[in-house]
Amino acid sequence: MDFAALKEECLACRRCGLCETRRHVVFGQGVETAEVMFVGEGPGANEDEQGLPFVGRSGQLLDRYLEAIDLDRNKNIFIANIVKCRPPENRDPTPEESAACLPWLRAQFVLLRPRIVVCLGRIAAQQLISRDFSVTKDHGKFFDKQGTLFMATLHPAALLRNPGSKPSAFGDFVALRDKINEVCDHTYPK
Ligand code: URA
Repeated sequence: MDFAALKEECLACRRCGLCETRRHVVFGQGVETAEVMFVGEGPGANEDEQGLPFVGRSGQLLDRYLEAIDLDRNKNIFIANIVKCRPPENRDPTPEESAACLPWLRAQFVLLRPRIVVCLGRIAAQQLISRDFSVTKDHGKFFDKQGTLFMATLHPAALLRNPGSKPSAFGDFVALRDKINEVCDHTYPK
């Protein structure tokens, strides 16, 4: 199975109730050879409208942090979400919805085989790193899980609500840049 085939299947998904209210499945966006993958929580209204991840205000902020460390969704990373369809009213995805959707993310991991996975916010971190993960306490730290490094940073929506956290989130991106230099082959030109 390649990315195009996986995407086609995912776009027709009816594995949970979110398919009834979505406009678009937000499969993810980025380059298929990316060594670094970002995972958010789930699409909001703008993402549901456009079918692309992180395209609203949080996405614009995320793009600025990415740009600061020479990352770009069109050049060297892949961005996805825990759930591919918008939870109504932007509520948290239910455990059932996350569980129903997780095989899509797993299939994306299998195809991409990222060296580093960056969890954006608590929902992704608790799903992918550990169930009791505290983003406030443990953001910016790298955890080796079977050869893949996982790190969590604050969700850009949280930074918009709480701009005082921006310097510590920026510190996470600087740590990410250093880690990429250490472990990735082609994310940055050598
Ligand atoms: N928030 C997320 O977690 N994901 C998106 O794609 C957009 C906003």
